Amino acid sequence: MKEIIIATKNKGKAAEFKQILEPYGITTQTLLDFPGDMPDVEETGSTFTENARLKAEQIADFLQKPVIADDSGLAIDYLAGRPGVYSARYAGEPTNDLLNNEKVLKKMAGVPREERTARFICVLAFAVPGKPTIFKEGMCEGWITTTVKGANGFGYDPIFVPEGNNVTMAELNEAEKNTISHRYHALLAFQEWLNKQQ
Ligand code: IMP
Repeated sequence: MKEIIIATKNKGKAAEFKQILEPYGITTQTLLDFPGDMPDVEETGSTFTENARLKAEQIADFLQKPVIADDSGLAIDYLAGRPGVYSARYAGEPTNDLLNNEKVLKKMAGVPREERTARFICVLAFAVPGKPTIFKEGMCEGWITTTVKGANGFGYDPIFVPEGNNVTMAELNEAEKNTISHRYHALLAFQEWLNKQQ
């Protein structure tokens, strides 16, 4: 494998992927390198795996190149796994992190600490035209705060305390987050798989 397209336009995410892939001599490009008529993949799946598959396979089909895609979100036990695949649009569209966080905190009002457990989940799908798609998953366990705290990161970071910490994900710096995040763990699992292919 010489080249992998990372199915994202998010530069932060692309940097995390590149850090894992490039030491293998794999060159990477992102969707930003393919302006124009890229298919606009609708995330219609009911699981992270289905959505990651949709993104990776449709773009791999279109470009006829190996593509890695991810789908991620927050699963809260007290909310039966919600917001889950609806994480980005929990409080409606377009995505509004502040409103999403407020909605979660409102639904969790009065819920005791021991029932506030949650996890970030990331599923990676690696699609190569003509081959079965490979899936790898990563998680980051933690719990939901009662107030918004911290200015780093994005999404639900200001209301999520990762296990083993007493500050929110949004109070950690990028390097600290990148060694515990769900995406990092999924990428490590992909790296292990890559190691076995060499
Ligand atoms: P995506 O699949 O990476 O686009 O993520 C979907 C949604 O999940 C985002 O809009 C966020 O609300 C949430 N999310 C995913 N990863 C993270 C994270 O690392 N921190 C906080 N929220 C996240």
